[in-house]
Amino acid sequence: MSSFRALVLEEKDGKVSSALQTVDETALPPGDVTVAVSHSTLNYKDGLILAGLGRIVRKYPHVPGIDFVGTVERSDSPAFKPGDKVILTGWRVGEWYWGGYAQKARVKSEWLVPLPAGMSAQQAMAIGTAGFTSMLAVLALEKHGLKPEGGEVLVTGAAGGVGGVAVAILARLGYTVVASTGRAETHDYLRQLGATTIIDRAATVAPPGKPLVAERWAGCVDTVGGATLAGVLPAMKYGASVAACGNAGGNDVPASVIPFLLRGVNLLGIDSAMKPMPERREAWARLLRDLPLGKLDAMTSVIGLGDLANESQRILKGQVRGRVVVDLNR
Ligand SMILES: NC(=O)c1ccc[n+]([C@@H]2O[C@H](COP(=O)([O-])OP(=O)(O)OC[C@H]3O[C@@H](n4cnc5c(N)ncnc54)[C@H](OP(=O)(O)O)[C@@H]3O)[C@@H](O)[C@H]2O)c1
Repeated sequence: MSSFRALVLEEKDGKVSSALQTVDETALPPGDVTVAVSHSTLNYKDGLILAGLGRIVRKYPHVPGIDFVGTVERSDSPAFKPGDKVILTGWRVGEWYWGGYAQKARVKSEWLVPLPAGMSAQQAMAIGTAGFTSMLAVLALEKHGLKPEGGEVLVTGAAGGVGGVAVAILARLGYTVVASTGRAETHDYLRQLGATTIIDRAATVAPPGKPLVAERWAGCVDTVGGATLAGVLPAMKYGASVAACGNAGGNDVPASVIPFLLRGVNLLGIDSAMKPMPERREAWARLLRDLPLGKLDAMTSVIGLGDLANESQRILKGQVRGRVVVDLNR
């Protein structure tokens, strides 16, 4: 296949538009590994990129898609050989570099992780950047002392991609998981993922002028940021940690420092894009062990490249439930 299908973004007069195109292999960027991409995903950041928001893309025309899984076609690296199944998340792929919304990609071998044995290509992308980030958040909380006997763990934005995978992992590990959501229609879904209690997202926002409220959360995976993150901090238990991994509710956090000073609360930043390789391998191994793949299947919908324009608008409006896999051969 010397030509293949790709979703290409163009910019004209400051407006970004997307079109399905047939692209020749000569258009691929430099790199030592060429991959036949089978699946990518739709993450919140992909939604921003497809809408031309956030100044994430450096130059157009651009192939978006911040993650992918596929089979190595050609490799100039001893680390990979043709036929190997590989995963890519992050490293600014789909942002600064050619991404996963094309049937082929060419990347640096240092960016690739082998697909874990026992995980299908579709499952790897049902996890994708979002689920990988959820695992990094749980690992960070564990490294800061979180244990199942510590009490309730809050997940905000629980019906989204990062949130849903975090709920499923924490429940499998024996935690008492409280899911915060703004969508009443997702309650059954969240219970199936393992949440024991579900609260409305408005309840996580602390009353104004109250830097501390009763201690409740032993840990928190926050995918929302903004006022939600500010509202969670006053209710953290003594010495507990919040893994801050998202900004679906805004970048500005109108918070008091008092929870840090009087309760020793920890705010842990989670970045998945530039995470070093040893921690990537650890996270994928833990996902294979700790994420129930049956639950993952239940939270996944599958679309084709042609559906992305519509689905990307839905993810920006907070209307997507769980994870969206993009099947490049659909
Ligand atoms: N740090 C990293 O490396 C990294 C990696 C991946 C993703 N992220 C970030 O993590 C966040 C979640 O990503 P995702 O792919 O899971 O997106 P998603 O599927 O759209 O989930 C986001 C969820 O946030 C909640 N939400 C949306 N708008 C909100 C608002 N205005 N106020 C309060 N809650 C709101 C919704 O949950 P409910 O419907 O349950 O209320 C929504 O489902 C994004 O900000 C994304 O950029 C960061």
